[in-house]
Amino acid sequence: MTTSRRVLVVGSGGREHAIAWKLVQDGAEVLCAPGNAGTAAIAENVSVSATDIPALVELARSRGVDLTVVGPEAPLVAGLVDAFRAAGLRAFGPTAAAAQLEGSKIFCKQILHRGDVPTAMFREFRSAAQAREYLEAREDAPVVVKADGLAAGKGVFVCADRAEALEAVATLAGDPQFTAAAKGILIEERLDGIEVSVLAITDGRTIVTLPPLQDHKAAHDGDTGPNTGGMGAYCPTPFVDAELLADIEARILVPTVHAMRRSKVPFHGVLYAGLMLTSQGPKVLEFNARFGDPECEALLVRLESSLLELLDATVDRTLDAVAQPRWRDEASVTVVMAAEGYPGSVERGRRITGLAAAAAVPGVQVFHAATTFGDAAEAAEKPVLADGGRVLAVTALGPSLARAKLQAYTAVKEIRWPGAWCRKDISDKGLRQERALLAAAGDATEPASAQEAAS
Ligand code: AMP
Ligand code: GLY
Repeated sequence: MTTSRRVLVVGSGGREHAIAWKLVQDGAEVLCAPGNAGTAAIAENVSVSATDIPALVELARSRGVDLTVVGPEAPLVAGLVDAFRAAGLRAFGPTAAAAQLEGSKIFCKQILHRGDVPTAMFREFRSAAQAREYLEAREDAPVVVKADGLAAGKGVFVCADRAEALEAVATLAGDPQFTAAAKGILIEERLDGIEVSVLAITDGRTIVTLPPLQDHKAAHDGDTGPNTGGMGAYCPTPFVDAELLADIEARILVPTVHAMRRSKVPFHGVLYAGLMLTSQGPKVLEFNARFGDPECEALLVRLESSLLELLDATVDRTLDAVAQPRWRDEASVTVVMAAEGYPGSVERGRRITGLAAAAAVPGVQVFHAATTFGDAAEAAEKPVLADGGRVLAVTALGPSLARAKLQAYTAVKEIRWPGAWCRKDISDKGLRQERALLAAAGDATEPASAQEAAS
């Protein structure tokens, strides 16, 4: 009865490496399309693009794949799950219609409104001219200007005043890379507070909320510099305690899943809430329809029970019958190592060294985010080359957040390629919050973890 399950993981980033890594531990035989040099070590890479839906259907069919897991948003929004279903194949993730929760910020706001879910106040415009007119007529205040559609994290402009907002609208209207995404423009109130991520797996009825975490979206230390896909994450975050997590589940996740079902677009897959913890409570900044990257890496190293079971039950709509997942007590930290030039254009093909030494650091998993093999026929092992902007997601578990951070950066120090860089302060916000909570609790003695962090 124990035939190995064959699972296809679609994508080529650190998120997909982490998913494949966990599924292999769960006993699955894994194919990755297209995968990277990291997934090649634990799974079979197949050279099919993550957005070539007909070729992915054919791959799943011809190789007897019985579950496909979709990492990135683009194939979800393009209808991969619909195409697989039509072909009688099982795929984890939302349909194209439900993925609009991420794919269209205006659709997202409509669902939030239906579910009475707290979010920033906003106005929606169908042209840049309308948006400009609105900005000129209203008081000069901080706002956020957003393109409606997917723009790989680049369609959001956090503006201090009217002048900046007008500039953002002009950028959206004038830049060809935004023309599709900027068919609609949102202008919303700028929220202040701490940003956290809460992800849940849902089959459209039952919700399994995962531990809260914090991403680091700005390129440089101290949250400065341009916005990126995420430079690091840690889990769990002390900004969300059990009570707040229950509140987020009840006031945000549950009503969103219900509103989707009532709108006849039931959502199944990963519901990822990007939240601002404001003085009025948590509010939704955005939803993603998939695991975050690098959040996924920081989450999955902590998952002790089966991921495969959760994914299967989501596809079969039987999540209510699955026991709550078990999480390791340890904290995790993921540090993204990026190529020179990221988030702008980067040089590919630089050779990476020190991967084995990094992987030997206790508690560390080096997930590959954009790597490929070079060909060197004479070498005993093929060289690994950097092949994109975010190259590696170095992830560590530790008995405390401070120790996890230490282990992650110990591993980072082993890895080299020309131009490699990373943020040095991943998880520091969490460490400061741990100290603040202890101080507030009237505990004068600093914990070992905080002392280490300060040193
Ligand atoms: P989004 O893609 O909508 O999550 O936006 C990207 C980033 O812009 C978020 O991670 C926030 O840092 C910031 N952001 C988005 N909306 C707001 C808002 N209403 N107020 C303040 N910051 C925002
Ligand atoms: N790290 C942010 C995202 O995956 O959207």
